[in-house]
Amino acid sequence: MAETTTGPVIGAQALSTPPISKEGDRDRRARIIAMCNQKGGVGKTTSTINLAGALAEHGRRVLVVDGDPQCNATTGFKVPVPGPNDLTQAKAVLDALDPQPLIRETKVPGIHVLPASLDMAGLSVALRDTGTGLTLYRLMLDKLRGLFDDILVDQRPALELDTDSQLVGSDAAIILTDVDQWSMEGLKRQLAQHKRAMARAERDDFQVLGLVIGRVTKPMGNFDAAVYKLLKSHPTVRCLGEVPVRSADIKEARNQGLPVCQFRPRTDTADFFRAIAANAGLVKAA
Ligand SMILES: Nc1ncnc2c1ncn2[C@@H]1O[C@H](COP(=O)(O)OP(=O)(O)OP(=O)(O)O)[C@@H](O)[C@H]1O
Ligand SMILES: [Mg+2]
Repeated sequence: MAETTTGPVIGAQALSTPPISKEGDRDRRARIIAMCNQKGGVGKTTSTINLAGALAEHGRRVLVVDGDPQCNATTGFKVPVPGPNDLTQAKAVLDALDPQPLIRETKVPGIHVLPASLDMAGLSVALRDTGTGLTLYRLMLDKLRGLFDDILVDQRPALELDTDSQLVGSDAAIILTDVDQWSMEGLKRQLAQHKRAMARAERDDFQVLGLVIGRVTKPMGNFDAAVYKLLKSHPTVRCLGEVPVRSADIKEARNQGLPVCQFRPRTDTADFFRAIAANAGLVKAA
């Protein structure tokens, strides 16, 4: 990492927040958090974008790593998706290349994105072919720790080697879930994936910070109400908060390339994400 008093240059752009001193580099050891669930459409990307917004309000330097070839976190911040002839995240991971030139600023000071690209659709197979795929994300993400306070990895909904490798590259996880007949099963599978991946990586320090219930609609039917209750008082995973369906705030913010905390800071939608950041212990409650 560059030792400089003017701040490291990232891609073509300098980081938009204050320069990182040598001293600061020692202090800034980003905690890497996987935003995960192999169940699809539960609000992983929405929560990643908006948790980043809540953290940035506290002056934290956040990197969102888009770990999903759908590229939703990338386009959600209006960051361009690298093309086939560009350096991509998949190439950086597979060839142990410096990922810094990939990183892009967003409209929000303090939030940067490491974009996804379409070639990540073949990443799981390509990682398997290397024979050391489980550890390759760790190699890449470790290079970025000193530049940020928090790194959020938006995972795709899958139990494959790319998601395993991202988990092994992370220190902790927040599990997103919805309220649905299959939510408990999905949560069980996700926790089993953590266990399996950490056993293979011989790690016993991985933390599940908690779960977030996304896309909550009330009133609920009896069955959903029972699932909701189980999720809120899960015996092993703490509930960090919930996000009710708020299509207008969430979609209009995303349409502007902004998290809700920056787009509509005075809404209860923004407060839900602030509460998640505080309950996860990432920032102090206001
Ligand atoms: N609280 C919310 N209110 C309204 N719409 C929401 C909310 N949360 C998520 N959505 C919408 O639900 C859909 C799925 O959300 P999102 O993409 O965040 O889920 P995901 O878990 O990342 O999906 P995938 O598994 O495909 O990556 C999106 O269209 C998103 O805009
Ligand atoms: Mg997603």
